[in-house]
Amino acid sequence: MPRRVRLVEVGPRDGLQNEKQPIDVADKVRLVDDLTAAGLHYIEVGSFVSPKWVPQMAGSAEVFAQIKQKPGVTYAALTPNLKGLEAAIEAGVSEVAVFGAASEAFSQKNINCSIDESLARFAPLMEAARENGIQVRGYVSCVLGCPYEGEVDPKRVAHVAHALFAMGCYEVSLGDTIGTGTPGKTRQLIEVVSREVPRDKLAGHFHDTYGQALANIYASLLEGLCTFDSSVAGLGGCPYAKGASGNVASEDVLYMLQGLGIETGIDLDALIGAGQRISEVLGRPNGSRVARARLSA
Ligand code: HMG
Ligand code: MG
Repeated sequence: MPRRVRLVEVGPRDGLQNEKQPIDVADKVRLVDDLTAAGLHYIEVGSFVSPKWVPQMAGSAEVFAQIKQKPGVTYAALTPNLKGLEAAIEAGVSEVAVFGAASEAFSQKNINCSIDESLARFAPLMEAARENGIQVRGYVSCVLGCPYEGEVDPKRVAHVAHALFAMGCYEVSLGDTIGTGTPGKTRQLIEVVSREVPRDKLAGHFHDTYGQALANIYASLLEGLCTFDSSVAGLGGCPYAKGASGNVASEDVLYMLQGLGIETGIDLDALIGAGQRISEVLGRPNGSRVARARLSA
């Protein structure tokens, strides 16, 4: 088990991107500021994608302009192409993420191109990011199942993860987009992918649709991973993966890590407060089991 784990908070992006109701910029800013105050070191704030594809992320530049950025904390955004990177640079973003997939059908649905085309699009983005001193993280979606193709061969995941790493992504996050993975398959996946990308350069991104996310994180810890993406109050889902529920709740991951004696630097009570506030804004029950237990105690 690692002594320390890095949590990548994706609630403001992965969490909110799927919301149909309009969310005020002020509420998004408050969420990011609350997460900063809770001690998160990495917050994915928004996306510079087509507003026709994901309308909820259209205000990302305004959010970046208004959040209080704390030194030492990374505030990142998704960018699917050069146009997105240019918008992110203009908004003062210091780290971005590109997102590919291990499934052809998902790639088409999500970013309107094949896997090879997506990698070709990322190349000039990587070049421009390098010139501007911007770090790039990589995502691979559908690593443990695809909503359109079903089973996904770990070797296909390894191929895309390696391509992203080789083109300069400093870390590759493995996305169980629809949450169908189980711990045994997760371990097998990491075993195969780590032949191409070192384990300390891999992150786990588990959606909790089938209630397997915490078990998959535990399995990943046993395989030597020490970076995990999670979403406060379990917000979210992917608009191009029907039925996908939110990422595993950050509060639940933190509670498990604390129980294992693993450090994160994050304050659980403050995180619960952040999740409860945004749940109230959205008018829905808090998706974190730990938050619900603590708040009803
Ligand atoms: P396209 O239609 O093929 O793009 O979409 P295009 O280059 O042909 O351009 C079409 C229009 O979009 C043009 O505008 C462009 O200017 C505009 P028009 O002339 O029609 O007015 N456009 C943009 N506008 C703003 N920002 C941009 C941008 N690029 C083009 N960056 C595209 C291709 C990639 C743009 C589109 O498919 C898209 O935006 N997709 C984003 C989908 C998305 O955000 N999905 C959710 C995030 S991924 C996820 O959740 C999974 C993850 O969490 C991991 C996991 O769970 O597995 C990361
Ligand atoms: Mg996701």
